[in-house]
Amino acid sequence: MSFPNDFLWGGATAANQFEGAWNEDGKLDSTADHFTLGSRKEPRLFTYDIDQDKYFYPAHKASDFYHHYKQDIALLAEMGFKIFRMSINWTRIYPNGDDEQPNSKGIEFYRNVFLELKKYGIEPLVTISHYELPFHLAEKYDGWLSRKTIDCYLKYCQTLFTEYKGLVKYWLTFNEINSLILGGNGYFSGGILSSSSKDMGAGIVDDLDEFTISKQHQDLVKQYLALHHQLVASALAVKMAHEIDQGYQLGCMIAGITQYPLTCRPEDMLLVQRERRNIFYYCSDIQVKGEYPKYIDRFFKENDIHIEFEDHDRDILKNGTVDFYTFSYYSTGCVTTDTTQDKTAGNLIFGVSNPYLEKSQWGWQIDPHGLRYFLNEIYDRYHIPIMVVENGLGQDDKLEEDKSIHDDYRIDYLREHILAMSEAIEDGVDLIGYTPWGCIDLVAASTGEMKKRYGFIYVDVDDYGNGTYQRYKKDSFYWYKKVIESHGENLK
Ligand code: BG6
Repeated sequence: MSFPNDFLWGGATAANQFEGAWNEDGKLDSTADHFTLGSRKEPRLFTYDIDQDKYFYPAHKASDFYHHYKQDIALLAEMGFKIFRMSINWTRIYPNGDDEQPNSKGIEFYRNVFLELKKYGIEPLVTISHYELPFHLAEKYDGWLSRKTIDCYLKYCQTLFTEYKGLVKYWLTFNEINSLILGGNGYFSGGILSSSSKDMGAGIVDDLDEFTISKQHQDLVKQYLALHHQLVASALAVKMAHEIDQGYQLGCMIAGITQYPLTCRPEDMLLVQRERRNIFYYCSDIQVKGEYPKYIDRFFKENDIHIEFEDHDRDILKNGTVDFYTFSYYSTGCVTTDTTQDKTAGNLIFGVSNPYLEKSQWGWQIDPHGLRYFLNEIYDRYHIPIMVVENGLGQDDKLEEDKSIHDDYRIDYLREHILAMSEAIEDGVDLIGYTPWGCIDLVAASTGEMKKRYGFIYVDVDDYGNGTYQRYKKDSFYWYKKVIESHGENLK
C-alpha cells in the first residue's frame, strides 16, 4: 500500500443536503430549498413558492446536522477522520445574498463547527458554494447570469476568509463547477430563474421540435455566460484568499467521469476527445492554467455562443489559479456516434452502457479502474496535488432490529476504489486526500431521496422526513476506522 502517513482520510457532505434547519436563526431560503422530492423515475420539481401543504422539500430538514453537529463530529473522530468536507450555506451568512451586514448567528454556527472539528484535530475542507444560492439573488439578478452576483459572492467570501482565519486551511470555490454545462439545468447550479427547464433530471428529450431547440439554445448560451461569471468569481476569490492568509489553499472541484469509446471506430475516439475537452477540461484548464483553452473556440463558433469578456477578465483568470485539483468520481460511461445504443444513468451525465461493468441500484456503472485512469490523466495534465472529494455507493440500506446495518456492498465498492487510488499513487500521482461522499447519510442531490444512502453512519429518517434522526454505525463504519488506522493497509 502506498498511502503516505499524512494522507488526508475523511468524508464529505454539503450544507443543503445535510444541515436542515432551513429557516432557523435568520437563515432565508436558498435555491435548493425550492426543490421537491423526486425519485429515479420522477424528476425533482422546482416550485417558485414553497408550498409545504402540497410538496415535501428534502433540504428543509435533511439529516439535521444543524442540531446534531457535536454528536456527528464525535462519530467522525471515532473513525479517525483527518479531514471533513462540508459546505457553508450562503443564506446562513447572508440571508438575502446582498444584505449590508452578515447574520451573526450563521457566523457563530460555523465557528462552533470548526472549533468542534479542531478539538479532534480534524481539518475542515470547506466548499463555499455547493448547489445553492440565496433565492433572493435568483429572483433579483437571475442568479449567475448577472455580474452583480459576482460582487455578492466576493463579499460573502471576504466574510468567510476573515472570520474563519486560523480555523480553516482548505477551501473549494464551487462544487462541480462544470455541472452548469452538464445537467442542462441552469437553475440547479447557476440559480438562473429564467432557464426554460428547472426540474432536475429533465435533460433527456427525444423528439425535439424547433421551439424546444431554440429554447435549449438560449439556455446553453445562458449557461456558458453564467459559468464565465463563476470562473471569474472563483479566480477573484482565490486571489482574495491568498491576500488575507498566505497559508490558505484553494482548490477547484470538477464533476469527474471517465469515458471510453464504445467501439474502436476512429469517430468514437474523436468523440471521446471532444467530450472530454468540452465537458471536463474546459473548466479546470481555466482554473488551473488561467486561460480559456483554444479548443473551445470551435465549440462556441459552431454553437453560436459569444461570451462577453469585460476588460480585466483575462488578467483575473490568469491571477487566480488554484493550488490543488479536486473532483467527484462515482461511475463511468461510454461514448459513441451510434445513437441507437442503450443509455446509462450517472452523476449528471447520461452515457452509453458499458457491457463490462456492473450497475448500482440507481443505475450508475461501477468502475474503480476508471478512477485510476482519471487520476493519471489529471496529474499528467496539471502536475498539482489532487484530492478525491466525492466517491461512494448510494444504496438503500436495511436497519436491522438490533440497529445494525450490514453494508458489505459499500465496503466492496470503497475497497476497490481505495486500491485503485493506491495504484495511482504508485503510478506517480500526487494524491493527498480522500473524502468519500455522504459519510453520514444525507439527501441525494439528483432525486432528493434519503433512501439513496452513502454513509458509514445511518440516519434514521425516511424520504419524507419521518424518523428519530438517531445515528447508527454501519458495518462500513468499523471497516473504514481500520482502513484509516492502518494508513490504507488493512482493507479486509
Ligand atoms: C455530486 C454532488 O454530483 O454527486 C453531490 O456534488 C451529490 O451533491 C453527489 O449528492 C451524489 O449524487 P446523488 O444524486 O446520488 O446525491
